[in-house]
Parts: sequence; C-alpha cells; structure tokens
Amino acid sequence: MAITGILSSPLVYDTWQYIARGTRYAPLFVNDYIKARPGDRILDIGCGTGVLLDYLPPVDYFGFDMSAHYISACRKRHGNKGTFLQRELTADTVSDYEACDIVVATGVVHHLDDAEARNLFAVAKAALKPGGRLLTLDGCYEAGQSRIAKMLLDKDRGKFVRMESGYRAIATSVFPNVASTVLHDMFRLPYTVIIMECST
Ligand SMILES: C[S@@+](CC[C@H](N)C(=O)[O-])C[C@H]1O[C@@H](n2cnc3c(N)ncnc32)[C@H](O)[C@@H]1O
Repeated sequence: MAITGILSSPLVYDTWQYIARGTRYAPLFVNDYIKARPGDRILDIGCGTGVLLDYLPPVDYFGFDMSAHYISACRKRHGNKGTFLQRELTADTVSDYEACDIVVATGVVHHLDDAEARNLFAVAKAALKPGGRLLTLDGCYEAGQSRIAKMLLDKDRGKFVRMESGYRAIATSVFPNVASTVLHDMFRLPYTVIIMECST
C-alpha cells in the first residue's frame, strides 16, 4: 500500500502525527493562535481525527471531514463533545450552518491547487460571523530551511506546499487582513509551518 493509503487509517495517521508533530504542537496552536473563548462556535474544516478538540475550552465544535474513517475516529474519541460530519464543506453546503466565531483548517491548504485553495478561503469567509477569524496551518518552504524539513515537505501527501508569499497571495485575494507566522520549531521533527490568521 502506498504511504498515502496507509495514512488514511486514523491509527496510523495519529501515530505518524505523534512522531512528527510531538505533543507540543496542538496545545501551542490552540492556546497561542486559535485562542477560543468558552462558548465560541468553531468550525474545523478537514478536522482529521479531531485532535484540536482535546485542548479547546468548552466550545460549540463542528468538525467536517470527507473521510468516513476520520469522522468515525472523531466520534469514538470525543463522543458528543462535538458534532462530527462526514461532509465536504463547500460554498453550497456552508450556508446549512450558523455563522461561527472561528474557522480552523490545519493541514488542508497544501493539498489544494490555487483555485481550490481560494475556494476554501471563500467558504471559510462565508462561514464566519462579522469579526470572526480563520486560522490555517500548513507546511511551508523557506530559503535556508533545514534539509530534513525540505525533504519531509517534498514527500508530503499534499502536492501544493508553497512559500509564505504563495500562501499569502491566495489568502489576501479573499481576506483583507492576513497575519502570517513561519515557525521552524513547532513540531518534534525538523519542519517548517506557516500559520495564517485571516479576518475581514
Ligand atoms: C491532512 S488531513 C489534516 C487533518 C487534520 N486537520 C490535521 O491537522 O491533522 C486533511 C483533511 O482535510 C479534509 N478536507 C479537505 N477539504 C475539505 C473540505 N472542503 N471539507 C471537509 N473536509 C475537507 C480531507 O478529507 C483530509 O482528511
């Protein structure tokens, strides 16, 4: 089985994420970047196995993923702590849900070509209340980054890993305000990530 097929198993995916991201990533991302308040309505596009929910305060959480395996793992792991839907969130389906305070998409944009990525940002914008925020996190190329980080990014399942400027060009075509941060030490393995916070 190809590595991409193996990673579609929630257990293998979580094990690989534990090795690569370590235990620091999720609480750091939740506490320093998502910064949710109790009661916030949060929509997680491409929620995977729902790891962020372990670290969020009590919120109204909606996790969407196209993978039935990941959604079933979310339901087993979190029960009714959130709502988990095996569904692709699109411009057509987003209006089925009430506007939310925060949209999160981690590890999603680098799987999408420019047109698909622009569409994802537009879907997120449509899902947000006025004053709401979108947080994205993806692998990122940067001149001079560690050779191991570059090698891991070259081998990623996502075929659209970009430089900071590439991600920002897409985000700013949809959101007027985009703050980006590039980090080299967020994961356990040498890796470079870009976090973007987008608001209207
Ligand atoms: C690499 S996984 C990332 C999972 C998780 N967020 C994480 O950081 O570990 C990307 C997931 O996004 C999902 N996905 C991508 N676009 C989506 C969309 N528009 N609606 C729902 N799920 C989506 C895919 O099914 C895939 O499982």
